[in-house]
Amino acid sequence: MGLTVDHLQVCYRTLRGDVKAVDDVTFSIEDREIMGLAGESGCGKSTLGNSLVRMDVRMRQLGGHVELDGKELPISDSRAMRDFRFKEISIVPQYAMSALNPTRRVGRMVAELLKARGFDYKSALPELERRVKLVGLDADILKRYPIELSGGMKQRVVMVISTLLNPSLLIADEITSALDVSTQRAVGEMLLEFRDRNFVKTTMVITHDLSILAQVADTILVMYAGKLAEKAKADVVINNPLHPYTQLLISSLPDVGIRHDEHTLVGIPGRPPPLLNPPVGCRFRDRCPFAFDRCTDEPPFVEVKPGHSVACWLHADGALPSGGV
Ligand SMILES: Nc1ncnc2c1ncn2[C@@H]1O[C@H](COP(=O)(O)OP(=O)(O)O)[C@@H](O)[C@H]1O
Ligand code: SF4
Ligand SMILES: [Mg+2]
Repeated sequence: MGLTVDHLQVCYRTLRGDVKAVDDVTFSIEDREIMGLAGESGCGKSTLGNSLVRMDVRMRQLGGHVELDGKELPISDSRAMRDFRFKEISIVPQYAMSALNPTRRVGRMVAELLKARGFDYKSALPELERRVKLVGLDADILKRYPIELSGGMKQRVVMVISTLLNPSLLIADEITSALDVSTQRAVGEMLLEFRDRNFVKTTMVITHDLSILAQVADTILVMYAGKLAEKAKADVVINNPLHPYTQLLISSLPDVGIRHDEHTLVGIPGRPPPLLNPPVGCRFRDRCPFAFDRCTDEPPFVEVKPGHSVACWLHADGALPSGGV
């Protein structure tokens, strides 16, 4: 049944006011789907991913609800979420690799994690070793300290640990960002393999780098300044994006720009607006080469072709009657 996120709003409480990092976000991920969540740094991707697993103390859910496999997820209730974490939803947080405890051997870390969740390490060990080998590592790695492992090895270990209990949803946040290109591809292969072997049912791959999504994602959701900009099948987002922001994002990546690669690397001038007091109207307006008078109103996120939704006034008039993602 997958994941359904409905009108979710999450903010950070700060002394200066609420930073609305996830602002009315609605989407779903089907069983066996790998959804990429893309956008520049600061767009709210990690906040969205983290809010589904573990809200930090500064975060608040202001509205909306989330369902996993037809069950409501109590994302605001950290205690109640304990029943879901690791078993049903697992996250590989941004910077997870560097957060591994340097004074614990890998195997001991897994043992402690399992024990805290009421599982026995000994009975899990054969499957753990099988999966460690499956991702190309020696079972010996369980006896080693994180400091003895390369970045790619650490990321593989983190992925194996996170999916050991076959969670329904895996959220992988910037898991390839600190790796070299060939290791990135290997980690991408792993995501596909884990899905194919049913180690996870649905996967959300968060990244600012669209090239990994070209390799692994079935669908891509693009966020901009806390809001949804565009969602469609991955090849449609990469080859025929409709939102001007997505178009610029793709054209600034020569590796991915299958249709746009004749363009030079331009980047996108300017930066996303602050989310403490975001501008009214389309949040991309200041940077958009196509902005016109209607853009002072906020564009709705509507389905303009089957399975293709976009929030832009250039396309809003072609909305299908049903709308939504
Ligand atoms: N602890 C925090 N307190 C206040 N604002 C925060 C905090 N963490 C992140 N933000 C803000 O929330 C927005 C989204 O951040 P984040 O979710 O990390 O984006 P991304 O993962 O897309 O880079 C940014 O504007 C960021 O400045
Ligand atoms: S709504 Fe207007 S400003 Fe926003 S992306 Fe579309 S054309 Fe550009
Ligand atoms: Mg992030």
